[in-house]
Amino acid sequence: MATNGQVNGAAVNEPHKSFDTILVLDFGSQYSHLITRRLREINVYSEMLPCTQKIAELPWKPTGVILSGSPYSVYDADAPHVDPAVFELGVPILGICYGLQELAWHHGKNVAAGDKKEYGHAYLNIQRHTGKQEHIDRLFEGLDDQTEVWMSHGDKLSKLPDSFEPIASTKNAPFAGIASTDKPYFGIQFHPEVTHTPCGKEVIKNFAVNICKARQEWSMEAFVDKEIERIRATVGPKGQVIGAVSGGVDSTVAAKLMQQAIGDRFHAVLVDNGVLRMDEAKTVEKRLREHLQINLEVVDATDLFLGKLKGVADPEKKRKIIGNTFIEIFQDKAKAIAKAAEQTPSAGDIEFLLQGTLYPDVIESISFKGPSATIKTHHNVGGLLKDMHLKLIEPLRELFKDEVRALGTTLGIPEELVWRHPFPGPGLAIRILGEINEEQLRIAREADKIFIDEIVAAGLYRKTSQAFAALLPVKAVGVMGDKRVHAQVIALRAVETTDFMTADWYPFDGEFLKRVSRRIVNEVDGVCRVVYDVTSKPPGTIEME
Ligand code: XMP
Repeated sequence: MATNGQVNGAAVNEPHKSFDTILVLDFGSQYSHLITRRLREINVYSEMLPCTQKIAELPWKPTGVILSGSPYSVYDADAPHVDPAVFELGVPILGICYGLQELAWHHGKNVAAGDKKEYGHAYLNIQRHTGKQEHIDRLFEGLDDQTEVWMSHGDKLSKLPDSFEPIASTKNAPFAGIASTDKPYFGIQFHPEVTHTPCGKEVIKNFAVNICKARQEWSMEAFVDKEIERIRATVGPKGQVIGAVSGGVDSTVAAKLMQQAIGDRFHAVLVDNGVLRMDEAKTVEKRLREHLQINLEVVDATDLFLGKLKGVADPEKKRKIIGNTFIEIFQDKAKAIAKAAEQTPSAGDIEFLLQGTLYPDVIESISFKGPSATIKTHHNVGGLLKDMHLKLIEPLRELFKDEVRALGTTLGIPEELVWRHPFPGPGLAIRILGEINEEQLRIAREADKIFIDEIVAAGLYRKTSQAFAALLPVKAVGVMGDKRVHAQVIALRAVETTDFMTADWYPFDGEFLKRVSRRIVNEVDGVCRVVYDVTSKPPGTIEME
């Protein structure tokens, strides 16, 4: 089984072999991944690894190292510490918040803890040096002498480590910025990676570009070329790959990349599980086959799925049935494709399984605190790996979601696919609360189509992160055409979010909601009432089941 999503044994053309890489060592701060993001935004490639990474085991040499913040205090008995070998690498090091304490801890251990927490905005006063010490000012080059920054820390330095000088202070932190006089080591108490620090990007750029001399070569165009090369080298001239596609952005982008790299030797499988949205299987098939030229097999398994879901009302049971049945069907199809390939003398074996894993999943799985229980397993068709001896290939494993969208655009994938809202694997089964049948599916599909069409018509599709109509398992009384009716209730849900971990409900204006409600009640048989869900996440979840 591949580790951390890498293809077994294949370390060909990995990004840090082609791009100068700043290594972010993560001490568990909720902002750590943002450091990587900010670096990539200035076209400097960056990867994040747990702070416990043994430097001798690192298969590549970073151009510079950033030590992140942390919820710990360096004085905690179980506080994480960096491998001291990082100081033997001979590259510049920047410590952010806890990273600054860590830097100081390794350079004397006699620094005292602060007793007051500081959280929020602060004014940073930059100290300038002259003569021999001028080089320690490079981190704040181009910044105003006083600038706003964002702080979030408990400890602070009250004594400078040997051979360090202060380069900035705030009202509460006399050593809000420090620099070594004889090595390219810098420490800052504030967080440059958050948008609340307006000069943050400049500070990160000063470190990466001016101090580390990292080349700003990371771009989606450059990534596409390297990745295609990497896929070809991994798969070989005859090897074949299979993968599931759903029409969602991750699987579509991964599939398109495979198609560009190895053409029809990539076999995509689209499973219609009977709980997709209106005409979804047909539309996705058309787009992938005709517009993107992906070698696609569609399996219509509606009857099998709906048969198994009959009479099941429990959300977790519905999820399990759909997940397991999906694996069963995909496995059968994959075996059939493999068999057909065996009978084609010129073709190679199916050796690889494509998976659209993204960087946040990789980060989560290698956290120094141990893999989080929240890692999503719903797209995992891992059972197949053991059974068919397939190796995992994950071309998006270095990318964040918005980079996947940028990659999709670079690959010429149409905007409506690149910006598609996420749709859960269990589909409408978790948007029809309670039992599912054909009639409930019809109502949910028609209502959802009206809602999404209106969102698109109002130019709000990109403003909402996810939107859908859910069908509640209750009936309400209404008056329609002078008659009392007893019909079902549609709940509309639309959220704004960046990470889908927290979300706010979208504030549509009243006229918009009135229009959607009127259309649904008038056009969808069996519905007499529409409500709008105004629950944020938390405490709600995005889906209703
Ligand atoms: P929740 O409802 O947990 O959703 O706030 C967060 C994001 O995850 C999606 N989601 C799922 N995706 N299988 C999936 O493939 C699932 O079982 C599942 N449950 C939730 C949801 O649509 C949202 O984008």
